[in-house]
Amino acid sequence: MKRDTLFLDESLSQTPFKFTENIAIVFDDMVSRSVPCYSDIIKLIVTILTQAVPQNGYIYDLGCSTGNTIKALLGTIVDKNITIEGIDLSPPMLAQVQQKLSPAEKNRVILTPYDLNQPISLKDTNAIILNLTLQFLHVSARKTLLKECYRALAPKGIVMIIEKIGGHTTEEDIQWSTWYSFYKTLNGYSPKEIKNKKKALTGILNPLSVAANEQLFHDAGFTVINQQFRWLNFMGWALQK
Ligand SMILES: C[S@@+](CC[C@H](N)C(=O)[O-])C[C@H]1O[C@@H](n2cnc3c(N)ncnc32)[C@H](O)[C@@H]1O
Repeated sequence: MKRDTLFLDESLSQTPFKFTENIAIVFDDMVSRSVPCYSDIIKLIVTILTQAVPQNGYIYDLGCSTGNTIKALLGTIVDKNITIEGIDLSPPMLAQVQQKLSPAEKNRVILTPYDLNQPISLKDTNAIILNLTLQFLHVSARKTLLKECYRALAPKGIVMIIEKIGGHTTEEDIQWSTWYSFYKTLNGYSPKEIKNKKKALTGILNPLSVAANEQLFHDAGFTVINQQFRWLNFMGWALQK
């Protein structure tokens, strides 16, 4: 795994954050040092979906990035002949997924480059994962996508959503930002790297409050909205029809 030192470069703070090849190459190190409990979040998704997905089940991983969740699911659900479709806007991210999969795993995976800000038509599915992806979409696109997730989901299916969340007050946002920056220093990021990346992400990663997220889920039709993960300003839900 290549060490992420990209945001030592001041010039990267001057342009909006994009999931380029340079990011894709260091993404696994970046995400594991930036997202609290990243590997445990994947284990949580795997734990819940292993129970929920039936024989010949179909799973979507929307915003699959470098495929860590896909790989973990394939390594755990070995006897159900599942298919996983990973969708992501960034071809360099999808290229990283390809590199990770064995020939046998490739037979179980479909990788689709697609901009989820555009309306999409999903196949009938047993599970949908949106792990830190909704936060990058326009709010109107989140609404459209969640409605399509609801429509495509089988009756006993599950949608797993993990998001960075915004505070209900400015004070809460400031407190979380301070704590989260400190957490990143514990993981080896310098104040300069933290400041540069934060600036690049401004207007690109747009967290909503817990209440606003749950309103979106409710408006899309989901009646079971269970909070299953929380670490400061990171939150995970399991949704069902
Ligand atoms: C923080 S990463 C998601 C992490 C990933 N789910 C995981 O488990 O490691 C966000 C991903 O969403 C993708 N993304 C951002 N905007 C998108 C869009 N409009 N359409 C599709 N994918 C998008 C990015 O390319 C990136 O791979």
